[in-house]
Amino acid sequence: MTTHTLPGHPHFAYRDKDLFAEGLRLSELASIHGTPLFVYSKAAMLSALAAYQRGFAGRQAQICYAMKANSSLGVLQVFAQAGCGFDIVSGGELERVLAAGGEAGKVIFSGVGKTRAEMRQALLAGIGCFNVESEAELDVLSDVALSMKLRAPVSIRVNPNVDPKTHPYISTGLKGNKFGVAHEDALRIYQHAASLKGLQVVGIDCHIGSQITDTTPYLDAMDRVLDLVDAIEAAGIALEHIDFGGGLGINYNNDAPPEADALWQLLLAKLDARGYGAKKLMIEPGRSLVGNAGVCLTEVLYVKPGEQKNFCIIDAAMNDLPRPAMYQAFHAIVPLTQAAAVATASTYDVVGPVCESGDWIGRDRDLSVAAGDQLAVLSAGAYCMSMSSNYNSRGRAAEVLVDGDKAHLIRRRETLQDQIRQEQLPAV
Ligand code: LLP
Repeated sequence: MTTHTLPGHPHFAYRDKDLFAEGLRLSELASIHGTPLFVYSKAAMLSALAAYQRGFAGRQAQICYAMKANSSLGVLQVFAQAGCGFDIVSGGELERVLAAGGEAGKVIFSGVGKTRAEMRQALLAGIGCFNVESEAELDVLSDVALSMKLRAPVSIRVNPNVDPKTHPYISTGLKGNKFGVAHEDALRIYQHAASLKGLQVVGIDCHIGSQITDTTPYLDAMDRVLDLVDAIEAAGIALEHIDFGGGLGINYNNDAPPEADALWQLLLAKLDARGYGAKKLMIEPGRSLVGNAGVCLTEVLYVKPGEQKNFCIIDAAMNDLPRPAMYQAFHAIVPLTQAAAVATASTYDVVGPVCESGDWIGRDRDLSVAAGDQLAVLSAGAYCMSMSSNYNSRGRAAEVLVDGDKAHLIRRRETLQDQIRQEQLPAV
């Protein structure tokens, strides 16, 4: 038997002609559960996590999985059981953490638009920290906490204004972004926070963007944040932790992001050099923990030759995999069973059934395909299911978590009944 691991996808490999996730043949999972089907490898998630754990060995550090990347309960449970905290951005995400067995005390709450109700919910649950994104939010949070006779633990998200060199929609630490507070206002806003009776300042936070594949923006951001730590502590406000956000990229298409442990070796050297090596660290990785731990299985419905383009029409669409339509993102597409002769390959645009020209999953792909063939869309563990929709009244896909040679159905396929449950016809 020959084994050939998919680039960037540990635990997904061809054994002879068939693609496997850990010990299971993906074509069999597709037959049992139907397509489109998301399949995740638990071992791949844990090995991505292990790279961060190695990076932080011997340090005081809390890894808070940014669950917006994939908020399915079965995925959250993997990280909760591995001791992770969670970065949340809504009351709904908090409920999910608790439902999956996560600890409220290890939750940090990010986001520019927290409502009073969400603040109350999070205070009641006893979350670890609020990452506050504006001065106005500080005042409201202090008010809410005082009304509950509590003090809210806060960090302020500062904008280091470094360019993460990623897609403009997913770069978040620049001056023109809606996130965080400006570097030059940060000290004043910290002093304001420290004066509010309902708040307890505990940390500082930044997050510069997503799918970052270069170490330079991180190192620059670290310097900028540490400049602020110097100034804030000199003003008499002690900071227990530094939260350095998420953002580390994955390999979609010959991308070569640094390994998490190698990146943190550099960042920790900088922290040490500036005298902050003993401070508690927090990070909020999302994509890098789950992105290449998941694939989306799909079936070819039709092959449609055209004058200018050939189309390969599959049963997964932009409602299941929104990243190509939203960001022109590249996801590799591979067969579940390798064809005997690649000589029959043609170039296709791989598209879904949704009625939009933007509904494409891959462009100009060389594939050897016929109706009924099964394909895998790779790097589909992050920002796919969590951004899926019911557009065109398509039910959401099912999800399977593979653990060795066991498959756990963690989400059954959505039915039309599920979709129309909250709707009612007006009485006429
Ligand atoms: N922390 C904060 C405050 C964030 O805003 C994000 C992501 C993360 C952590 C996690 O970042 P990660 O490690 O996953 O890069 N939907 C887009 C990505 C949006 C990212 C938004 N914020 C995509 O599919 O590329």
